[in-house]
Amino acid sequence: MVRSSELNIAVVGATGAVGRALLELLEQRNHPIERIAALASSRSVGKTLPYLDGAVSIEDASSHSFTEADVAFISVNSAVSLQLAPLAVKAGTLVIDDGNAFRMDAKVPLIVPEINGREVEWHSGIISIPNCTTTPLAMVLDALRAASDIDRVTVATYQAVSGTGSAAVEELQRLSRTALDSGGALSHKYPDCSDIAPAEVYPHSIAFNVIPQVEDFKPDGYSVEEHKMVNETRKILGLADLRISSTCVRVPVYRTHSEAVHIDFKETVTPHRARELLANYPGVEVEDDPSNSVYPMPSMATGRSQVFVGRIRQDISNPSGLVLWLACDNLLKGAAFNALQIFDEVVRRGVLRKKNQKMN
Ligand SMILES: NC(=O)c1ccc[n+]([C@@H]2O[C@H](COP(=O)([O-])OP(=O)(O)OC[C@H]3O[C@@H](n4cnc5c(N)ncnc54)[C@H](OP(=O)(O)O)[C@@H]3O)[C@@H](O)[C@H]2O)c1
Repeated sequence: MVRSSELNIAVVGATGAVGRALLELLEQRNHPIERIAALASSRSVGKTLPYLDGAVSIEDASSHSFTEADVAFISVNSAVSLQLAPLAVKAGTLVIDDGNAFRMDAKVPLIVPEINGREVEWHSGIISIPNCTTTPLAMVLDALRAASDIDRVTVATYQAVSGTGSAAVEELQRLSRTALDSGGALSHKYPDCSDIAPAEVYPHSIAFNVIPQVEDFKPDGYSVEEHKMVNETRKILGLADLRISSTCVRVPVYRTHSEAVHIDFKETVTPHRARELLANYPGVEVEDDPSNSVYPMPSMATGRSQVFVGRIRQDISNPSGLVLWLACDNLLKGAAFNALQIFDEVVRRGVLRKKNQKMN
């Protein structure tokens, strides 16, 4: 069987928030530099990114042939993915795509390895990873459905700006600094400095603010992000009729998304049983001691690959309901780490062969 360190890898979107997180993970594995192609837009050609003891040079994705790459991790916007992924597949490269372009395509498995890793076996060239808010929610629901069928889920997200990419991280820095320097952040007035530092990434300043909009709105009043959470959760869990509703909110946090989750079960599930199931679920850690102020937060979850769950309690409005809080690093389990786990899964299951490898 081929080993993952022997494979040629293309990282498309290497200069972006997810691409950089992926390179860091590959670096931690000592994946040889000569087997990684780092690709981005033509704007980045000539730039280098530090990697192990050296650096990788950025190549133009639009002129890359993918003939060498066994696997391409694609972390770019949907329009670019839709152009590049078919070219890579045609060259015999397995695509692991981070974006929204293929997730709901019936021919594309949408994978969280802890839940449906076996589905890598039916890929036809492209495997998608879910949206960064969907992955931790789906893992929690998968753990808890072992105790009872789920009747209904309601979730509110508190999403970090890195979920929008590098430009949004810079915008939070820039606008926060302006609001502080101008005194606006401390005034009785909302520190809107749009006259001196207009927001460019979001429709409003994200500095010292909370924006109840993640992506555009659809005619039904829900945002695209909210629809993603609903549809992707149903697809991953194989529950096409799951009753689920979400409100997605952007908060002025750099990294790690948090979620308040309300779950109604068909039968009663006690908080004690929920804690037990979650603590035993791979990739989930329970941090639940509210009386000592122990609960998941971006400050403790950032840089870690697990989904952290706490504030687990009986819903006072429904004896068959639970309420909980989770935090998950959007760039790791929400993106790059999940992508790398999928890579490991295809290698482990022998679904991937190195290009030009001699067959026995
Ligand atoms: N951020 C998250 O938490 C997260 C989580 C899950 C999934 N995702 C998905 O992952 C994808 C990337 O997100 P991100 O946050 O990493 O975005 P980002 O920080 O804005 O990075 C975008 C990347 O795409 C590259 N790019 C732009 N136009 C290109 C083109 N025409 N050809 C080739 N490369 C091009 C950029 O290269 P240049 O630097 O050269 O412009 C950059 O490397 C998106 O689909 C996003 O929805 C993101």
